[in-house]
Amino acid sequence: MKLPSILSALRRLAAGTLAAAAVSAVAAPAVPATTTPPMRVPDTIGQRVAACIACHGREGASSDGGYYPRLSGKPEGYLFNQLRSFRDGRRFNSDMTHMVRHLSDDYLHEIAAYFSALDLPYPPAPASNDATPEMLAHGRELVYQGDAARGIPACAQCHGLALTGVAPAIPGLVGLPRLYLSSQLGAWLTDARHALPPDCMATVGAKLSTADVNAVTSWLALQPVPADSRPASAPPGPWPMPCSAAMR
Ligand code: HEC
Ligand code: HEC
Repeated sequence: MKLPSILSALRRLAAGTLAAAAVSAVAAPAVPATTTPPMRVPDTIGQRVAACIACHGREGASSDGGYYPRLSGKPEGYLFNQLRSFRDGRRFNSDMTHMVRHLSDDYLHEIAAYFSALDLPYPPAPASNDATPEMLAHGRELVYQGDAARGIPACAQCHGLALTGVAPAIPGLVGLPRLYLSSQLGAWLTDARHALPPDCMATVGAKLSTADVNAVTSWLALQPVPADSRPASAPPGPWPMPCSAAMR
């Protein structure tokens, strides 16, 4: 399958009926009724984001090898940037856009802080996939060395040597489903995912070939999440290019 057709298949997959039911649960609490209901659900942030779990898994820890990305433990600034990107149209997924369309920055910060603070175990990484040893070697090389001749920095220069991300706003690359990884890298190839400028990941992503994407996602999907899964506090060296996510 070509990447654009994978993308549209994924969009169909995600376009379930859950969002409509789910979004009512994150909307602002209803105006109090004149008669007190017999039992009230406490209005805590945990209760209000229960809707997210329908897709993202228990407490935001997606556990199967499917598509939905995990939320718990991700850098807070990264989660906030993504929620804002869905709301403001820089990143597109109809369910996600629908979920956050009417939410304020303050509320998005609250949601991001909630999921970021959750510390839940990761499921074990799959032991193998259909990638050849050559593909896996190429993937590993891109991650730790990049490809200087083509202007591709090593992924680890920004995503951290342990690939668990860099606080506050660079995401980790381990613990994500392969399908999700290829869909995101596909979105940069087709210019469909954006961050505020300077959008370094869009620059890097646009330089990858489909063979690079297959190699790097196959390798990443097999890597175990280290025992300390928290994002690093600083990148291993200077940023290889300016990123809005590193300028906060
Ligand atoms: C109907 C299913 C569905 C529901 C409900 C849902 N999401 Fe999502 N979410 C998705 C899908 C699918 C993606 C991946 C989108 C893509 O391909 O870009 C996603 C992506 C995300 C991302 C980006 C993750 C990353 O690693 O970049 C965040 C953050 C997020 N969702 C937060 C939430 C929050 C918070 C809620 C509840 C308010 C929520 N989602 C509810 C389906 C859902
Ligand atoms: C110059 C710094 C930089 C380099 C080098 C870089 N990235 Fe990124 N990457 C980012 C930033 C910043 C984001 C967040 C983008 C956003 O906010 O939308 C990101 C996001 C991602 C995501 C999305 C994760 C998610 O949860 O949705 C993937 C996948 C990714 N990068 C893969 C790679 C791969 C593979 C490489 C190496 C070939 C790489 N990156 C190299 C900065 C970088």
